[in-house]
Amino acid sequence: MLILENHSLKELNTFRIAACAKSFVRVSTTGELLTLVDTPSFREGNPLILGGGSNMLFTADYNGLVVQQITRGRHVIDEKDGKVFLKVMAGEPWDELVGYCVQNGWGGLENLSLIPGHVGSSPIQNIGAYGTELRDHFHSLEAIDRNTGKKMTFTGPDCCFGYRESFFKGEGKNRFVIASVTFALDSKPVVHTHYGELERELKSKGIKEASIADVREVVCDIRKRKLPDPAVIGNAGSFFKNPVVTMKRYRQLKKAFPGIVAYPEQKGTKLAAGWLIEQAGWKGFRKGDAGVHDKQALVLVNHKNATGMDILRLATEIQQSVRLKFGVPLQPEVTII
Ligand code: FAD
Ligand code: EPU
Repeated sequence: MLILENHSLKELNTFRIAACAKSFVRVSTTGELLTLVDTPSFREGNPLILGGGSNMLFTADYNGLVVQQITRGRHVIDEKDGKVFLKVMAGEPWDELVGYCVQNGWGGLENLSLIPGHVGSSPIQNIGAYGTELRDHFHSLEAIDRNTGKKMTFTGPDCCFGYRESFFKGEGKNRFVIASVTFALDSKPVVHTHYGELERELKSKGIKEASIADVREVVCDIRKRKLPDPAVIGNAGSFFKNPVVTMKRYRQLKKAFPGIVAYPEQKGTKLAAGWLIEQAGWKGFRKGDAGVHDKQALVLVNHKNATGMDILRLATEIQQSVRLKFGVPLQPEVTII
């Protein structure tokens, strides 16, 4: 393991922010990770765990140790009751995993196609898209306790998954390094096509009985149309979460803004933050190199040389104006560092 000093993170975060880490190390096995956790460099280095850097905004250089896991490997560990249990190491690219599952005919992850990032980060915010979430096919994960160096297993209930939330974003924040995730996949896939846009797109292609490969293809098509490709323009996907309000508050808003886009939830009503931001006049806005994507107002972009602070200032202005117009607070989805 080679610890590098003053290492550039520009190519390691999808916002393409030109931040620098005081020190940086890549670990390629869980054994290396266990060794690293026990060193003074880690214990005293204020470590930050980095996956694919697709849900982070660096607002300054990182004055500590950045650790990136590049551990690879996927193993079927069990098959029973119509489920395939697949253990996947943290450093595997997420979308390669989805492609591999679809190729093998194992169902469950196809709606989550083309989400950037690594498998080890996927439980952190319980990634979700097109009507499914990670938790729907999650079995367990192994994580290293940063304080004791012990390996622990977490099941679904231990992870307290919610909408873009988990134990690892809340109480367990900065306490664990996720080393592997085990998925419970369907050996006889059941497709989930109830998400409006997905259903419409399948219909327009004349696909009546969609396979998991069809779902993957259509989800990829929709995403390529709407979301900016980080290889072309810096971004971290949705910058804010969709806010959830009470039914009473929703009715008031609906009366004042009849066009408001919302979805009923178990615990209230989820508002489309992209609609709120567009209505507040921000879609396509640009100040210097910080901007709001012109096809999806929930996505903030770095046109080239924006700093993390430029993006953060823009995000704050958007929050203020949405609050002023609709009285609704927006919470960042992205981890701000
Ligand atoms: P990083 O950004 O590297 O890290 C995110 C957080 O997890 C950080 O706090 C980090 O410290 C922590 N972390 C990372 N790895 C570990 C680990 N092994 N152990 C402990 N902590 C760790 N998200 C969705 O949910 N749905 C979408 O549809 C979606 N679409 C996106 C589209 C685009 C174009 C982009 C750029 C992003 C999108 N995202 C989406 C957000 C992002 O891709 C996901 O949140 C992804 O899981 C982040 O993975 P990462 O490896 O890049 O994590
Ligand atoms: N809308 C607008 N203007 C916009 C954007 C959206 O009016 O500029 C309205 C439209 O009515 C649209 C609706 O909002 O139909 C919802 O938009 P979209 O389908 O693009 O989904 P979203 O709610 O903006 C969420 C996730 C995405 C995920 C998609 C698909 C959050 C914060 N974002 O976006 O996840 O890919 O649904 O499931 O929940 C991410 O987390 O980074 C991310 C990209």
